[in-house]
Amino acid sequence: MIDLFNHWDDIYKSKDHKKTSWYQQHSTISYDWILDIATQDDAIIDVGCGVSVLTDNLLEKGYTDISLLELSTSALNTTKSRLKKHSNKLTFYNKNILDFNTGKKFKFWHDRAVFHFLTNNKDQQIYIEKLYKHLNNNGFFLLSTFSPDGPKECSDLNIVQYDVNKITKLLGDKFKLIKSTFEMHQHPNGSKQNFNYFLLQKV
Ligand SMILES: C[S@@+](CC[C@H](N)C(=O)[O-])C[C@H]1O[C@@H](n2cnc3c(N)ncnc32)[C@H](O)[C@@H]1O
Repeated sequence: MIDLFNHWDDIYKSKDHKKTSWYQQHSTISYDWILDIATQDDAIIDVGCGVSVLTDNLLEKGYTDISLLELSTSALNTTKSRLKKHSNKLTFYNKNILDFNTGKKFKFWHDRAVFHFLTNNKDQQIYIEKLYKHLNNNGFFLLSTFSPDGPKECSDLNIVQYDVNKITKLLGDKFKLIKSTFEMHQHPNGSKQNFNYFLLQKV
């Protein structure tokens, strides 16, 4: 069985992160939807943050309570040192999301291209339990995954593609869909990757 920690850590140690397929120079839909919903002092978590600049973008807008969870120590250290001067507004968790436990609750849970790596129902259910437990009542879940016409794998790992029907069925009656949209993300190598974005609310 693959050691996920080493798998991801090796990617961040060996690759220029600006060449990774998921790289964005500025966050797009995630940024817009968080700005629409969350106030500057709401608790936000970015699950599987990697070295994403979403947090940099939110800090520039005055957000004050952002948690960053990431499996790869190397990625998390890169992000931590880049954001050093904002450390009083940030909490870091070097964890597998499936082992995450804290007393803190969040108004907004963000996941871009992480949940879709959970390919079996047991892991998906553990993730959903963690999500439900750590979200405030009426809190928001922004999920971005590859769409059914997007890639079937990423970084040599299989993924699960989602559309509205599939994600709402999986989340059952614990969440209601607020909106969804589609994005054609440009891979730094020039190819296109189709993503779906879902905004859901805990009920
Ligand atoms: C495709 S990258 C996306 C990174 C970031 N969300 C972004 O949009 O730039 C997936 C990230 O999820 C992390 N990851 C994968 N499985 C994870 C898990 N079970 N728990 C926490 N992080 C995980 C990887 O290390 C990697 O940084």
